[in-house]
Amino acid sequence: MNIAVVGSGYVGTTIAACFADLGHRVTAIDIDEGIVERLNRGEASIHEPGLDDLLEAHAGDRLRATTDYGAIRDCEATFLALPTPSREDGSIDASIIEAGARSVGEALAGEEGDHLVVVKSTVVPSTTEGTLIPAIEAGAGEAVGERIRVGMNPEFLREGSAVTDFLEPDKVVLGADDDWGRERLFEVFAPLIERAEPAVVEATVREAEMIKYANNAFLATKISLINELGNICKEFGIDAYRVADAIGLDDRIGEQFLRSGVGWGGSCFPKDVDALRAAAREAGYEPELLDATVAVNDRQPERMLALLAEHADLPGARIAVLGLAFKPGTDDVRNSRAIPAIEGLTERGAEVVAYDPVAHETMREHFPDIEYAASAAAALSGADGALVMTDWDEFAALDDEFEDMATPVVIDGRRVVEHREGLVYEGLTW
Ligand code: UDX
Repeated sequence: MNIAVVGSGYVGTTIAACFADLGHRVTAIDIDEGIVERLNRGEASIHEPGLDDLLEAHAGDRLRATTDYGAIRDCEATFLALPTPSREDGSIDASIIEAGARSVGEALAGEEGDHLVVVKSTVVPSTTEGTLIPAIEAGAGEAVGERIRVGMNPEFLREGSAVTDFLEPDKVVLGADDDWGRERLFEVFAPLIERAEPAVVEATVREAEMIKYANNAFLATKISLINELGNICKEFGIDAYRVADAIGLDDRIGEQFLRSGVGWGGSCFPKDVDALRAAAREAGYEPELLDATVAVNDRQPERMLALLAEHADLPGARIAVLGLAFKPGTDDVRNSRAIPAIEGLTERGAEVVAYDPVAHETMREHFPDIEYAASAAAALSGADGALVMTDWDEFAALDDEFEDMATPVVIDGRRVVEHREGLVYEGLTW
């Protein structure tokens, strides 16, 4: 099939490359000329394992990029993968994707062939019906439902494994409100369904929008629940990981996402949970459990600081912060739990020396004035205490380095450092 993907950000670039790999002819459309030129040269503007290989194989052949929305006219389906940033109150700002939907409509105006527009971006329930369909109609000058149809196909890509998550998914959610739209979505995903045999979920557009939020809200709440249980375990001197191992054996609970600690960050969980809370409130429902999910997450870095304060006098102390990325394998620090931890340390008058294998540059935008050490060993040397914020493998290999601390105190928020003799070691939930 000929497929257009509007937006060449993180999701757009990944799905464009993966659709090309599935055998489709793909046109990536972006307003940024630099991104378009790079894509046409086979270079990604984002880093994801496996993405460079796909671009190298398909750019200039089955994958082309352009700034011209007119390219949509040669395609049978267009995926909208544009950003839906958060507003101050947590609700999403749909103005960018709304403008994109209008441009898609304009490109299709006066055409005769039929076309499926698929919403890929994360939008709260009823956005497609209430905002995006009217925008397409305004651009096209005709009603959606005859020649132009609309579908919704949410994404469940994790940073650091986006390509394999796309090509080997647990499920594919095909949201459409009519048979024609659903059949065309099936056609797009047929090569993937044949290759990877995922569960195929047929849904309405509104259900598909909600499934994405429910998925992320559930996972974020699962982590906050194990963190709450972990906090209770800590009060009783119980190792929460041993408890998690046991409860994870119950199929209804499942063993994944039970690593308790300093909490969740990143670009998806915080944004999506906030957007769902805001949408629920606007609809007249008080999402008390989701409020608590966020409250527990916000509390975890504070609990680490309180544990540290039991062993170190924070004003004037030199504290090593190991790990700045929101999770290992990325330099992304968005909503990283290291941010409130560093803020808390600074507020208490401590001097921060930070180390991360890859995230110094991204964290410098938040904290230009703290010290960044060249290695974990350099950060620990002379420190009066250390906080472990990200579960990078290299922290598990630290050993003699702790001997160079002025006071060997480690508060581990990720259960990555091993307790050893001579070290005052506190796990957050164990
Ligand atoms: C997540 C979802 O997994 C993905 O499906 C969605 O589309 C986007 O959001 P991502 O943000 O890349 O993906 O990271 P993920 O690997 O899910 O981890 C999220 C956060 O939860 C990280 O901060 C991680 O450290 C934390 N986490 C995860 C825990 O604290 N404990 C766990 O057991 C698992």
